[in-house]
Amino acid sequence: MNGARDCPLTSAGCPVRPRWTRRERQVPWCQGTQLARGERVMSYSFAVGSGDGTAAGGASGQPAPFTHHTPALLTAALGRIPPDSVAEFTGSWNDLPADTHVAADPPYRFRRYGRFRVGDGLLEPLPHVPFFQDRAVNKVHGGVARMFAPLDGGVAQGAALRTVVRTLWEHLPGPRTGIDTCGIHQIRVTATPDAEGLPAPEGVHQDGHCYVAQVLIGRADVRGAESCLYDLDRTPVYRASLESPWETIVLDDRRVLHGVSPLTPTPGARTGVRDMLLVDFFGGDVRR
Ligand SMILES: [Fe+2]
Repeated sequence: MNGARDCPLTSAGCPVRPRWTRRERQVPWCQGTQLARGERVMSYSFAVGSGDGTAAGGASGQPAPFTHHTPALLTAALGRIPPDSVAEFTGSWNDLPADTHVAADPPYRFRRYGRFRVGDGLLEPLPHVPFFQDRAVNKVHGGVARMFAPLDGGVAQGAALRTVVRTLWEHLPGPRTGIDTCGIHQIRVTATPDAEGLPAPEGVHQDGHCYVAQVLIGRADVRGAESCLYDLDRTPVYRASLESPWETIVLDDRRVLHGVSPLTPTPGARTGVRDMLLVDFFGGDVRR
């Protein structure tokens, strides 16, 4: 069944209001598709790996709905702040508590969350609140107010987070009108030979935000964890595996869906680890 619905974001916080089309048919994970970096897909073309990874515009005149950036984008920005600040930031992934909303024993998913007021040159911490997604966009955890551990104070106030968010803010694939808030997710997913890790238990999905940035902090002894993007008809349009620290995909959450395949440890490894920074950008009047 096909159906159209309004964007679940508020009209005030949603400067781009595409027609959302939902198909009920299930589309399998990327298996069977052979989308490669640089391949021309639909109306978009990609220049990933050839500099800053800027994607060309779509046929509609809007910016392409996502950009895959090489590490150069963030490493250049982070190179202008003290290395100790960067090390403290990346090291904080070693101190993430288990995500108690994922039923797994032992846990394989660890995370912290924080919200900030964001703007040109602005990153101001907001009171800690539960993270909320609508059931329409998250069939696993939607409708549940999930209280995650807050960010460490040094991370929240540090130069590294401010630098990363400012850089992402300047590279959103579309207008920033009405967007004044961001959510910061620090997430670690682990896998053992007996238990794969699920970066996205909800499968192919949207997050219910305006833009979402997916930044790889690090991966060790990991196979899989391939990112895939889909158009609104759930047709795969792009896939890539984030391999190098600071490699980043920034997407327009209203115009593409996304998913990440499970991860397993490499042969011989006892544990595989994948650390991600996710940054959600949205209008602050939206319940999150
Ligand atoms: Fe997501």
